[in-house]
Amino acid sequence: MRVLSGIQSSGRLHLGNYLGAMKQHIELQNEHECFFFIANYHSLTTVQDPPLLRQYTHDVALDYLALGLDPNKVNLFRQSDVPEVTELAWILSTVTGKGLLERATSYKDKVAKDIPASMGLFSYPLLMAADILIYRSDLVPVGKDQVQHIEMAQDMAVHFNTTFGREVLKRPEPKLNDALVVPGIDGQKMSKSYGNAINLFDPPADTKKRIMSIKTDSKPVADPKDPETCSVFALYRLMGLPEEVAALRERYTRGGMGYGEAKTLLAEVVERVLGPARVRRTKLAADPDYVEDVLTTAGRRARAVAREVMADVRDACGIVTAKGTHG
Ligand code: TRP
Repeated sequence: MRVLSGIQSSGRLHLGNYLGAMKQHIELQNEHECFFFIANYHSLTTVQDPPLLRQYTHDVALDYLALGLDPNKVNLFRQSDVPEVTELAWILSTVTGKGLLERATSYKDKVAKDIPASMGLFSYPLLMAADILIYRSDLVPVGKDQVQHIEMAQDMAVHFNTTFGREVLKRPEPKLNDALVVPGIDGQKMSKSYGNAINLFDPPADTKKRIMSIKTDSKPVADPKDPETCSVFALYRLMGLPEEVAALRERYTRGGMGYGEAKTLLAEVVERVLGPARVRRTKLAADPDYVEDVLTTAGRRARAVAREVMADVRDACGIVTAKGTHG
């Protein structure tokens, strides 16, 4: 089973990225052949500052490795080390109706948030489909907001195959995790663009301050509280051990505990997960050659797969290139 997923390098990663995607990726590394990449071509739709894009690209690699992705088990690489994906995106665009892309809710959401409506932003699902299909991926672990994009990739694979009368591309399946919505400090979905994120690798004191500022209702200490509607509890449930979660739930419903105490408990479990990762990240940051080597090696492996698939794709649709053009 080949598992593939990508993560954009368009800002500092936060708990929502970790709980919504990265944690699941790290768990899958023990069971399957995994391809995880840093979607820097996608990031170019929102980050158009070269030093910043370079920095974010490197940071995603550091974050993943620090959180426990094992480069001996998975291929962690840069999207741009497999430039064939942009070629496949073009070819897919020729068998994809404009109406399909016009239905993309993620595009509409981004434009509503004032991200410039470039062709790149509009074509985002084509490049994402190419990312998936170029490795003949079976399974794509993603957050709920990306499922529509995977469904588009399924449509494109089938459409390509029927147009050219050959089973060249494999229809992928999305894999959802159980962290449905990760709330930010204001209770809305955690997102960089909402300004409500708890970053993974801020200084610990800043993270604690952020957690202490999570919005709650104003029930006094003595009152029983509803764990189901509280963002502090929602985050605790995603980070704590089952018995810790059960104990906190009991304290909510019993009353006698203020939100400040619940937040302190949350800050403790967050630090328990992030503390050791922060130490590993500092070490990795001091060794950029090692990180570059991980990315380069995995990028070569990924590219070898992509080249084979692209040879089939070109052949299926009648695109001819000079010998040697594609290595
Ligand atoms: N669009 C994804 C996100 O923002 C990132 C991504 C790019 C991706 N290409 C992908 C995810 C291919 C899965 C598969 O989260």
